[in-house]
Amino acid sequence: MNLDDIGNTPLVELMRFACNGGRLFSKCEYMNPSGSHKDRTYLNIITSLEREGVIRKGMTLVDCSTGNGGAALAWIGKKKGYSIKIFMPEGMTCERKEQIRAYGAHVVETPKESFLVGAVDATKEYVKSKNSSEVYFLDQSSTLLNKLAWHTCGEEIVKALGEYKVVPDYFVCSLGTGGTFSGIAEVLKRHYRDIKTVGIEVDASAPLYAARQGLEFEHRSHNLMGLGAGVLSINTIPNLIDEVVVVDGDEAWEQMRLFVSKNEYGIGPTCGANLLVCEKIAAMQRGLNIVTLFFDSAWKYKSCWDGVYPTYTEVKLCC
Ligand SMILES: Cc1ncc(COP(=O)(O)O)c(C=O)c1O
Repeated sequence: MNLDDIGNTPLVELMRFACNGGRLFSKCEYMNPSGSHKDRTYLNIITSLEREGVIRKGMTLVDCSTGNGGAALAWIGKKKGYSIKIFMPEGMTCERKEQIRAYGAHVVETPKESFLVGAVDATKEYVKSKNSSEVYFLDQSSTLLNKLAWHTCGEEIVKALGEYKVVPDYFVCSLGTGGTFSGIAEVLKRHYRDIKTVGIEVDASAPLYAARQGLEFEHRSHNLMGLGAGVLSINTIPNLIDEVVVVDGDEAWEQMRLFVSKNEYGIGPTCGANLLVCEKIAAMQRGLNIVTLFFDSAWKYKSCWDGVYPTYTEVKLCC
């Protein structure tokens, strides 16, 4: 596999999904080389920074991740000749940690009590302690190069929907940093004036939902890794999100397991969250065309197929 193998993923129609007379399409991002959507994110961040002369081969690149971003960065970094260091909260699945290490990157686990906020702090401290122009913090959460990576994917969706002769009514997608959602939504809103965009947060950590409902935001531990970091990224752009809905992590896992058992697509739990919301929207009105996205792969969760992260069941988080 090469860097050219990133992107151009299929937009598949989910024929077996109950759609109330409508049609449901999903962009299969788990088919990217490292098994998730984050290949697109890091390819754009790295190639843009190289073009600007900010980073060059041989440097050490660091970032924080619950796994997918780390694997993508590790894989692309190896291909391009960088050393990679990934700061991860304790307790992520062993498949994800093993994958990152298999690509030759170094994993630093940070205390569970402060989850991703703690991983960000640890990364900043590390970079400061090195005080070297050879070490660079990519910070996927704070760079809009993340969102920009997703314009190409948006254009791919428009092209594929054209081939299906479909005009979408809804775009439905979970929010982590929000880069994936915002980049695609920007393109879809340009092409389809009436499309409605629905962003999904996990109920235990839903800052945008809380802000829109006038509720106080509280971060609690959850089992939808990749969502609910505890802070809002600049890549989550509120005016691109027509509606924010929350999902229960256990229900998303259950939806994912059910879907994997009945379909040929090997997807992860945040894809289950997307499907849960698509199902609810489809039930509201007959004949809707809905587009969603499959982020990552089921094999990344094999060791916790019950959806339980033991490290996070008892923890009182402090971020
Ligand atoms: C499994 C999974 N789903 C969804 C997301 C959300 O993607 P984004 O950060 O682009 O919003 C992530 C992000 O890490 C993820 O790992």
